[in-house]
Amino acid sequence: MGIIADKTFHFHLFTEETSYLMEVSGSGDLVHTYWGKRIHSPPQGAWFNPVEVASFSPNPYASDKRISYDTMPREFPDFGRSDYSSSAIEITDPESGSHIVNPIFKSYTIVPAKPPLSGLPAVYTENDSDAQTLIITLKDEKLNLEFYLYYTVFSDFNVITRHTAVRNFSKHSIRIEKILSCTIDFLSDANFEMLHLHGAYSRECRPARISLGSCSHRVESRRGASSHEQNPFIALVRPETNQFSGEVYSMSLIYSGSFLAEVSVNCYEKTRMQIGLHPDDFSWELKSGELFTAPEAVLVFSESGINGMSAKYHSLYKNRLCRGPWKHAPRPILINNWEATYFDFDENKIIQLMDAGAELGAELFVLDDGWFGERNSDAVSLGDWTVNTEKLPHGLRDLSDHAHERGLLFGLWMEPEMISPGSRLYAEHPDWCLHAPGRHRSLGRNQLVIDLSRKTVENYLFDTISAIIKENGVDYIKWDMNRNITEAGSTAYSCNQQGEISHRYILGLYSLLDRLTRAFPEVLFESCAGGGGRFDPGMLFYTPQIWTSDATDAHERLKIQWGTSFIYPQLVMGAHVSAIPNHQIHRAASLDTRVRMSMSANFGIELDVTKLTVEEKEKIAHESEVYKEHRLLFQYGQLYRIEDPFVSDRGVWIIISEDLKTAAVFCFQQLAVPNSLEKRVRLRYLDPDSEYLLSDGKRYYGDTLMNYGLEIPKMESDFDSVIFLLKRADG
Ligand code: DGJ
Repeated sequence: MGIIADKTFHFHLFTEETSYLMEVSGSGDLVHTYWGKRIHSPPQGAWFNPVEVASFSPNPYASDKRISYDTMPREFPDFGRSDYSSSAIEITDPESGSHIVNPIFKSYTIVPAKPPLSGLPAVYTENDSDAQTLIITLKDEKLNLEFYLYYTVFSDFNVITRHTAVRNFSKHSIRIEKILSCTIDFLSDANFEMLHLHGAYSRECRPARISLGSCSHRVESRRGASSHEQNPFIALVRPETNQFSGEVYSMSLIYSGSFLAEVSVNCYEKTRMQIGLHPDDFSWELKSGELFTAPEAVLVFSESGINGMSAKYHSLYKNRLCRGPWKHAPRPILINNWEATYFDFDENKIIQLMDAGAELGAELFVLDDGWFGERNSDAVSLGDWTVNTEKLPHGLRDLSDHAHERGLLFGLWMEPEMISPGSRLYAEHPDWCLHAPGRHRSLGRNQLVIDLSRKTVENYLFDTISAIIKENGVDYIKWDMNRNITEAGSTAYSCNQQGEISHRYILGLYSLLDRLTRAFPEVLFESCAGGGGRFDPGMLFYTPQIWTSDATDAHERLKIQWGTSFIYPQLVMGAHVSAIPNHQIHRAASLDTRVRMSMSANFGIELDVTKLTVEEKEKIAHESEVYKEHRLLFQYGQLYRIEDPFVSDRGVWIIISEDLKTAAVFCFQQLAVPNSLEKRVRLRYLDPDSEYLLSDGKRYYGDTLMNYGLEIPKMESDFDSVIFLLKRADG
């Protein structure tokens, strides 16, 4: 299953729906020949297409003047030997100063399942039949380097993963200047648009499509984090592709630091699509004998539109990326005090919020920022992780015990990756932050970034956080990170290694998270970076929930959750009911709409519940019960996007259980339209031949709901909404 390789080195990787083909050219290049819908027999050698004006498309091999890299589709392109499109590998040989590298096919091996990526998060297998892995070795004889291209085929998930590694067999160090995880060339095919998810703080994951033209396009982060600005994902889609139909070729990178995704079209309409570590924020001294492994890219092809792509990512990330006891467990309804109090709270207030939250049906109380050191503003105390006894005289243990007595889990906010310049920790260890000697240390939100490239710092944080969890009975950690990296240097490393620090920082973060999640498997970790500043598959490997955005307004969330769902399942998206007027945008959506927006993801509450009216309390308590009753559907069902809020005056999505027996339709009005009529919405993905009972008492067949459509009552006011629960009549 999954991989066929013949004696002449033709490789056919296939899932149930997809084929991926490669072959080795006579000169030893690894040539990409096809990726797309599953096909039977690969055409062999068909990529070969000699160009006429050879001098401007130079020939890498003296033996065959007809070969040019301008037309050859390549799996692992280098720079400097006539491949003028963007490279996947660049190396400096310090002995000669040369940048030339020539990776030639050496051998291959096929292994069951999937070897883990040392030190990096990655999709995993649960048993040998889950997947098969092809490892192709390329060698540069002169440099004495071997390159390993890994391809894992998850047949049932319809996914192929790729990553790259390099080992130095020479006697001296070399410098890796660039190493991408995945390159795919589409030969003579530029009939695509590029889809990506861009944004900013508080408005993450806006989908955008651009025509390719005849040039290069970069989607990138150089911020030391995957970023609010661009998600580590790109897709090529056909111009006619929509949510429901059409071809999509996509790459998602399992990495949380700076990344580059690039699409370029050359003069022969060869389209090159790539993703990996950002070379501007990376270089690596690879010493004799050492191995370097680049992060993993996840490749999804769908011929059933963008929803088809999303369903594959959701399924894989829920089942083979998230880990630990929370992977399949119902996620608790949480109540968080941040927007209720900000820094201004005391023990009494926290206990009142806990008590009121428990009455509303919350199952987890999260004490957010401000509980430690002298933290009454964001200017101080990061690093001083001891409780502020002026605010909380009986300490955290007392609060945690109180939560547990009320039947709530107890959660705590931390921002371990940061250090405030006025903190005790900084006074003791002024070199424990990322910095470049003699240079100004740039602040962001008044704080510096702790140097996680140092093992001592990682160990210190592991001990500190472990003690806090153990001593206080902590069940949940909100792992925040509120600024991007500057002066990415560390005095713990040599001058030659300063280009490594940004990546070493991420490796240190992963190592710390790995140790903590192993030591405390029962603790639920939710990551956050001012909302979605690091909403990426790398973080998901350690933290099976992520705070989607600091924008808590339901209308903004409609767009943010819509875009985020392109790659990530609603299960992993934190979504909270907050106060009106909304604190970020001063909008006032109804309580119903705020609740429904949160219920369509991972439901939480983040407002001063002690100030709610009796009716409001009753409503939230009632909706919490509804959520609990249908939690498996809401959290674990498959979400499909139906009506696009960037195009329509409303946004609609449906969540359907795997057996198609239950579903929930969420419809959110944006600005109400005067003198408008009721508008149906044509549902999708239901069982056409089953009768469904609707929560308004009506009954319709799936085909009726999908063709005639579901009647949506007229919504009179801005930001109104409606939810329908559907149950198959045969139960
Ligand atoms: C940024 C987060 O996104 C917020 O939810 C909150 O935890 C603050 N940090 C606290 O400083």
